[in-house]
Amino acid sequence: MTPPRLIYRNGTLRIMDQRLLPDRVAYIPARTAAAVAKATKDMALRGAPLIGCAAAFGFALELRRLRPGTPAALRAAARRTAELLKAARPTAVALFYAADRMLARALEFADAHPRPFGPAEKRRLVSLLEKEARLITAEDARACLDIGRHGARLLPKNCVIMTHCNAGALATMGIGTAVGVITEGRRAGKVKRAYACETRPYLQGARLTVWELMREKVPSELITDNMAAHIIKTCGVNAIVVGADRIAANGDTANKVGTYGLAIIARHHGVPFYVAAPTPTVDMEARSGDAIEIEERSCGEVVVVKGRRIAPRKVRARHPAFDVTPAGLITALITERGVISPVNVRNIGARLA
Ligand code: MRU
Repeated sequence: MTPPRLIYRNGTLRIMDQRLLPDRVAYIPARTAAAVAKATKDMALRGAPLIGCAAAFGFALELRRLRPGTPAALRAAARRTAELLKAARPTAVALFYAADRMLARALEFADAHPRPFGPAEKRRLVSLLEKEARLITAEDARACLDIGRHGARLLPKNCVIMTHCNAGALATMGIGTAVGVITEGRRAGKVKRAYACETRPYLQGARLTVWELMREKVPSELITDNMAAHIIKTCGVNAIVVGADRIAANGDTANKVGTYGLAIIARHHGVPFYVAAPTPTVDMEARSGDAIEIEERSCGEVVVVKGRRIAPRKVRARHPAFDVTPAGLITALITERGVISPVNVRNIGARLA
């Protein structure tokens, strides 16, 4: 079992600091939305669904600090808090989904209380927001289980499967999305071996995914990203499954940089390429992948690995954290509502309706 990623108790959110993995498990206490946003920006917590769940608790924490007052003050604080949380990272839509859902609850409360409210009503507001955050978390955990089961059914016997980045328990509040498919597939006796790409520059595959797979006793091997084509060609890989940060209405999918390249290799070798994600990952307002903002992170994360510079001083570098895989390269989307294939605007719309 993966240790808890978030623990919410008595006005404190304890966030597992994933930067310390796999060496140790330790937590950062957060009591404000700003602290949650900072932990998200700094990658102490990461993974699309998890940053959404943390944002939901961050929202509740912040409004807990609000003094009883006017509905106008509550509305202003709620809007400010949602904006602060959403500014932490731009690509994963789960963050926006959770912050907007929490904001909607706070605004409903303000609308229902036209006069200034006192401590008792404030307590009701906080408990309502905490309940909503817990619901978002429970929905994520449930979705992961369903995704795992739907995905496992797609895998062939003796499956040799590859994944990229970390779409495991560490990225969610449940068993993970892509990794959930692998562990459920293993439980069903179908997965012979899993390959995890190390995922430069942040090494989520090396630090996190293989750590999870080993704990789950899935026979697995770590490869560097540039080994993927060779391993797919020579080691019998017959499925690739990845997570998603945002899926456009037409199925174009933003996920960790390197995913697009894997999808091209998969197509060349006739290997099915699956994207496993809960339905809130679909952003119907983004018509295609072109509308998805790709986060550009610090070049320092490319040039410095574990505190050691690996390139010349003053070198120019780039760090797009995600890329977009065109829908045409994706065999199926695996969601908690079932499998969507072929991946196109009509099938996605029908499944979400
Ligand atoms: O930068 P990260 O570590 O937050 O990126 C994570 C990924 O790209 C995951 O593959 C994605 O969020 C899916 S998580 C279930």
